[in-house]
Amino acid sequence: MNQSIWNAVDEYIADVMIPPDAALEHALASSVAAGLPAISVAPNQGKLLQLIARMLNARRILEIGTLGGYSTIWMARALPTDGQLITLEYDAHHAAVARENIAHAGLSALVDVRVGRAIETLSMLASEQAGPFDLIFIDADKANIPAYFEWSLNLAREGSVIVVDNVIRDGHVVDNDSTDANVLGVRRLNEELRTNRRVDATCLQTVGSKGYDGLTIARVMAVV
Ligand code: SAH
Ligand code: DHB
Ligand code: MG
Repeated sequence: MNQSIWNAVDEYIADVMIPPDAALEHALASSVAAGLPAISVAPNQGKLLQLIARMLNARRILEIGTLGGYSTIWMARALPTDGQLITLEYDAHHAAVARENIAHAGLSALVDVRVGRAIETLSMLASEQAGPFDLIFIDADKANIPAYFEWSLNLAREGSVIVVDNVIRDGHVVDNDSTDANVLGVRRLNEELRTNRRVDATCLQTVGSKGYDGLTIARVMAVV
């Protein structure tokens, strides 16, 4: 098993159940043209986020890590006309590309791109009482995943779903001796999930066009 068969299967899945979409293709192409790294979620992962949003009847979505707005567009499409998606991005150039892609998708009225370090913009959202969010997607710098998860719990309600990207990291997540800040971020999240009685979670290993990685999906419960 290797990357070429994973790519072929991702293409096959897309052919079967992900129709071509001009706005999503524009978002990827304009991101490449603007020099952004090709680290957005894969099409089938974007669709998973959209399906989760629809299953939740999500009206308010929070994303941490916008890049060019590809995952943003997938999720915002699930919102009703009076819904809102707030997406947090540190890099002003990424945010500008994302705003253009979101406008091109006709979603500007639903999406608020906030520029700054997510630790700071999350704190602002909490003081604005911007929550609760129905769905939260954590996909920014991995060393800060534990902090983003804590803020996400503060901005959630019972039944909210939190999805965290890039939690397997080619399998390095099982390395007890890792000194990689990204791996340590994921492992600290997992220690939190082990003990925190307010969340119920699972984790899926994934292969595909984005390599070998994984997603954690957590549901926030009432405090018991
Ligand atoms: N969710 C996007 C991909 C996000 S890539 C998609 O799937 O389409 C990760 C993004 O997080 C990058 O754009 C990076 O600039 C941003 N990021 C990195 N550190 C950050 C921080 N401290 N605060 C907010 N965003 C950050
Ligand atoms: C990186 C970030 C991501 O969110 C991702 O899915 C893949 C790679 C990165 O920062 O390298
Ligand atoms: Mg990611």
